[in-house]
Amino acid sequence: MAKVKTTFFCQNCGSQYAKWQGQCTSCKEWNTIAEEVIQKPEKSDWKTPTSTTKRVSKPLLINDIDTSQEARLDMRDGEFNRVLGGGMVQGSLTLLGGEPGIGKSTLLLQIALRLQYKTLYISGEESQKQIKMRAERINPNSNNCYILTETKTQNIFKQIEALDPDIVVVDSIQTLHSDYIESSAGSISQIKECTTELIKFAKETSTPVLLIGHITKDGHIAGPKILEHMVDTVLQFEGDRNHVFRILRANKNRFGSTNELGIYEMQGSGLREVSNPSEILISEKDGELSGNAVAATLEGLRPLMIEIQALVSTAVYGTPQRSATGFNAKRLNMLLAVLEKRAGFRLGAKDVFLNITGGITVDDPAIDLAVVASILSSNEDVALPSDYCFAAEVGLSGEIRPVQRVEQRILEAEKLGFSTIFVSKYNKIALKNTGIKIQLISKIEDLVGFFGLIFVTMILK
Ligand code: TYD
Ligand code: MG
Repeated sequence: MAKVKTTFFCQNCGSQYAKWQGQCTSCKEWNTIAEEVIQKPEKSDWKTPTSTTKRVSKPLLINDIDTSQEARLDMRDGEFNRVLGGGMVQGSLTLLGGEPGIGKSTLLLQIALRLQYKTLYISGEESQKQIKMRAERINPNSNNCYILTETKTQNIFKQIEALDPDIVVVDSIQTLHSDYIESSAGSISQIKECTTELIKFAKETSTPVLLIGHITKDGHIAGPKILEHMVDTVLQFEGDRNHVFRILRANKNRFGSTNELGIYEMQGSGLREVSNPSEILISEKDGELSGNAVAATLEGLRPLMIEIQALVSTAVYGTPQRSATGFNAKRLNMLLAVLEKRAGFRLGAKDVFLNITGGITVDDPAIDLAVVASILSSNEDVALPSDYCFAAEVGLSGEIRPVQRVEQRILEAEKLGFSTIFVSKYNKIALKNTGIKIQLISKIEDLVGFFGLIFVTMILK
């Protein structure tokens, strides 16, 4: 009998060791190295049509390279196409990661059902019946989608050969198992081996493959980082599970930009594409409420109008509470200190709560000014006009700093019917004849001055 071969892998970064050790020398994590059995019998490879015709690569002049092969497949989903960079490239491997229950299986099944190409959806997680039940909720009539429940890669390739699909979806890479490796499914060596086999299949037959990958509790795709290096595109599906919005972004994309963003809304009948996100991120309300301000932010390259809500109230306990949802709490404290020091507001004895609607997290510094405006509005208990919006960063000395791509933000605000946008005086703006009033300010005191004006008009009313 062949000797059982084992190797030690770091479960965090995938580094390989000859013997066990306490700390991984590569990623410096402790206690992550585990023994895995790898035993490779002679590979009697599955046959692909091209693997018999031996291809030898030759250098080609870059101008002579034919790109017509790289034609992209339309996924019939505007948001998905946009994130991929205009459709799926043939022979590419795409990995979709996300927390459990966020909707990865729903998204890919929904796309598979909609495609006009012959699609094979392979699931190692759910039975054919369960998938059918889910499919019935999403889109009951599809003639191109085949479902296979199988986890052994050798069997999968046999079925693929028989069916010859145009697109293959695998849910999920952690459930796959290759006979060439003895360790259990989901281990580092299995994930590596199964991905390698799928890459070989994708490149040789020019069939695009979509993989679902689980993520670990700190948000990385489970398995080694090497998995992310192996595939062409890494997509991340994220959102707050208690909210309906889901954001799809590309962390890596060999065939497009990583700045694009797709937005979906989870409904009873699957995921709905949201082509105009600003409309839903701004809450509907009767009349104007104090403590609300709208910020013009950018997510990737996409302008988004989001609503910030603040509540400032007298602290009940000795130490005032400060809490922020969707916004960095340290930055909130900094903005409060700036308001205290530069604009003379006594917020030291007040509780301050801040919330970004829609359950999304924003780290664009351009929302600073809207945060300050919402805090002032709540503190004075005076509502801002609902057609005002803000896009600027606030510095430590209370200066209003310029932000990138301000014109794109202004145009989005104009499109959505805002009457006035507050931006930094130091932003260079070449826009002419806009329907929106561009209010330039340079210091936090300027904003407070505007507030004074609003208060006076409120009292006169
Ligand atoms: P799922 O796609 O299985 O998540 P993942 O594969 O990322 O683990 O399920 C996501 C959640 O979405 C599930 O808890 C139920 C919900 N859901 C809907 O709200 N509407 C639907 O039409 C479907 C299919 C699921
Ligand atoms: Mg799933």
